[in-house]
Amino acid sequence: MVKICCIGAGYVGGPTMAVIALKCPSIEVAVVDISAARIAAWNGDELPIYEPGLDEVVRQCRGRNLFFSADVERHVSEADIVFVSVNTPTKTRGLGAGKAADLTYWESAARMIADVSKSDKIVVEKSTVPVKTAEAIEKILTHNCNAVNFQVLSNPEFLAEGTAVQDLLRPDRVLIGGRETAAGRKAVDALKDVYARWVPADRIVTTNLWSAELTKLAANAFLAQRISSVNAISALCEATGADVSEVAAAVGMDGRIGPKFLTAGVGFGGSCFQKDILNLVYICERHGLHEPAAYWKQVIEVNDYQKRRFVTRVVSSMFNTVSGKKVAVLGFAFKKDTGDSRETPAIDVCKGLLADGAAVCVYDPQVTEDQIRQDLAAVGEPMRQVGVARDAYEAAGGAHAICILTEWDEFKALDYRRIFDGMQKPAFLFDGRNVVDGGELRRIGFIVYSIGKPL
Ligand code: NAD
Ligand code: UGA
Repeated sequence: MVKICCIGAGYVGGPTMAVIALKCPSIEVAVVDISAARIAAWNGDELPIYEPGLDEVVRQCRGRNLFFSADVERHVSEADIVFVSVNTPTKTRGLGAGKAADLTYWESAARMIADVSKSDKIVVEKSTVPVKTAEAIEKILTHNCNAVNFQVLSNPEFLAEGTAVQDLLRPDRVLIGGRETAAGRKAVDALKDVYARWVPADRIVTTNLWSAELTKLAANAFLAQRISSVNAISALCEATGADVSEVAAAVGMDGRIGPKFLTAGVGFGGSCFQKDILNLVYICERHGLHEPAAYWKQVIEVNDYQKRRFVTRVVSSMFNTVSGKKVAVLGFAFKKDTGDSRETPAIDVCKGLLADGAAVCVYDPQVTEDQIRQDLAAVGEPMRQVGVARDAYEAAGGAHAICILTEWDEFKALDYRRIFDGMQKPAFLFDGRNVVDGGELRRIGFIVYSIGKPL
């Protein structure tokens, strides 16, 4: 029986291993983490992450061939294939601070693998890492343990939160990079055999190590670039009377461009786009490639501009001040169908509104009150002016304005007449995700602002 161990029971490690266990009953999969609390949650009734469809998959496999454990060393030492799916945030200090990836967690995982290994292992980079990381990992492994053979593979993950289970069950592609040696090819084939149990052969792509590592950064940069492109056009739409939804739909009908990922909004968030682009920028700069670095940096600058522009629109529309006014914030997660608020645009928007003196009252169906308070405290906001509501009606009660910051389906179906009746007048609604019907809301009496649409 092949044994797989995954180091890191987070948004990637948990769902990815659950789907491998589901599709490969003959493989024993152990997911380990240094956080005992996270492991306890994976073993409990309420999983540590909210992801549609994940509960069923975990319930089917847990205890059968899927195990969550805090005994990191034992499972690593017993495994044939070790995935490393630890966090790789942006460095906050030292060389490359604010741009380069912080590989501290990765390095300590690699050192631990070297320490406990007694049999040959395939070590798989699942985390998103800078190109050439595999070379550093190989050095750490071989210099600390020469009794066993290690093969390092790059197998980046392309799942998106909120659709992780579906993305894993039906991936656009699985990418595996390895050394172009006999041992390297053998390792690639072993990992390919795992995915081949449910992914069609033509969707499993093999490349050299550096192409696989760089593809992940490039893919995220391209995706984020599309969002910044449509957001840049949304500003021009507002200035000219064009409608960004119409423009994006017509542009996307060009087969060379395609319709996906062209939804204008308040700006992209999430734990990865910004960090991965900053990482790409840093790598370009380290290679003296200043123009490519500046090009990709601009994707983040447009995103920051879009978030600022939204706050400015709110404040300027409300007679140039929100001081002492209650603003209901509907949605705090960085996108719908997740409870994840890492790098959510809602943090920047709340910060901007609080800075102008507003009292914000947040409602999100999945992000907990503790998390919301923690996120706002982390950016230096005092809690006096922050409220957290149990539903959208409570959040909007007595408010001067509503800001919709996450495209949760339930925000489309709210009783806006009831909400309007309970608000201060004039009642403003700023739709940062273009989820409501502006015309209908104007008929109720709201003053509506939608991204990239005529006023
Ligand atoms: P996460 O923070 O949710 O999970 C990482 C886990 O690793 C944490 O639970 C942490 O306790 C654990 N960990 C850290 N060091 C450890 C160690 N030495 N031993 C054992 N456990 C350790 O992160 P995530 O969102 O799952 O992301 C993981 C990686 O995958 C990142 O590189 C990210 O860029 C990449 N990625 C994320 C997504 C996503 O949607 N979140 C998608 C694709 C790729
Ligand atoms: C993204 C990528 O889509 C995944 O392929 C990748 O694996 C992952 O990053 C990663 O490396 O972490 P994720 O961040 O989970 O996945 O979610 P997305 O659906 O990409 O959304 C990211 C942000 O962009 C959200 O804030 C979303 O609201 C925003 N977005 C997305 C738009 O504003 N417009 C769009 O058209 C699409």
